[in-house]
Amino acid sequence: MSPNLSAVRNELPAVQASVYLNTGSYGPLSRAAATAIEGENRQQLTAGRLTGMGESGQSLGAALRGGFARIMGCDPDEVALTHHTTDGMNIATWGIQYRPGDEIVTNSWEHPGGLLPVYAVARRFNLKVRVVSLDKDEDEETLLAKFERAINSRTRLLSVAHVSWKTGAVLPIDRLAELVHCHGGLIAVDGAQSGGAMRLDMRSSKADFYSIPGQKWLCGPEGIGALYVNRERLGDLLQTYVGYPSLRDGGAYDETGIFLPPDGARRYEVGTTYRPAMAGMWNGIQWLESLGLEWVYERTQEITRYTRAALSTVPSVRQVHTPAHAGLTSFTIDGISPAAVVDRLAEDNILIRSVPDPDLVRVSSHFFNSEADIDRLREGIEGL
Ligand SMILES: Cc1ncc(COP(=O)(O)O)c(C=O)c1O
Repeated sequence: MSPNLSAVRNELPAVQASVYLNTGSYGPLSRAAATAIEGENRQQLTAGRLTGMGESGQSLGAALRGGFARIMGCDPDEVALTHHTTDGMNIATWGIQYRPGDEIVTNSWEHPGGLLPVYAVARRFNLKVRVVSLDKDEDEETLLAKFERAINSRTRLLSVAHVSWKTGAVLPIDRLAELVHCHGGLIAVDGAQSGGAMRLDMRSSKADFYSIPGQKWLCGPEGIGALYVNRERLGDLLQTYVGYPSLRDGGAYDETGIFLPPDGARRYEVGTTYRPAMAGMWNGIQWLESLGLEWVYERTQEITRYTRAALSTVPSVRQVHTPAHAGLTSFTIDGISPAAVVDRLAEDNILIRSVPDPDLVRVSSHFFNSEADIDRLREGIEGL
């Protein structure tokens, strides 16, 4: 049986304080996550941090890797805990051993979280970056043909977001992966707008690396996220940063300079992580699982379809056409700038955002949004 939507909304108090349509920037914190954060903080304050050392700290880490693995459809040993999407994209982008003459392919829709690591490694190692210029409303074949022209035998990495933060388009990452693999390169996927918003299945996906945040579509705390590393690629992805958690058996190093990583993706974890965020995220994922992850994804599809249908009834709204979607919908409104739309709707407590290049209004609709939220959005736009 599907969960009751108003009961679900009760577990996300922030979504009752406004018409909350900006999960793509910051998701609402779930009560489950907040309660665990508070509990862990209280424990640290009253009993001290040492009580969480050793086994209990490690088992929280292991449980959380397991939770993220279920979100991404992979095995727990293919998950490294990170702090946010950008962290994971940096680990993936910096970890590749570049050779002189190598190239990186990316595109004009990337968020700085994925793009800047590319620019930084290119500067450091003198690599060529090819930026594929994407247009809104273009079909998948046109988009693939553009990437096909940019990818060649020198391409070492393709860095691409699964869901564009600008247009909401879902990029065909498996076909892109095939393309780059056939030239001997690797693909790092920015999952900031997909992790928790749509079903992911790394077991069948061809992605090599996939980075997601906890605080957006998973309604978790800030400061925690996850990076999937396909176990076949562990040998290709060097550890750029290392520390105690990146060692086998918690201490496999000696004074000759030898250190041994653990078997899985845990090797990319470096130091002490904020335990309240870990506890909050773990409880937050368990809450989502109690609702049913399939329900979460299907409800997100349903409410996003409703959003798109509602906006299409407003004659002045020009939606970006995307054949597939997660939870983002982008559009323009005749005669008023995206920034002005955002400001005017905020006056009515309707929270959305605008994005640059192309200048668009962006609405995030997630499983907890009600049809009434979307009706308020449509009425707000009609009233502009
Ligand atoms: C596509 C994309 N990538 C990366 C980021 C940065 O996310 P984080 O703060 O988790 O690093 C965002 C944030 O909105 C995003 O939309």
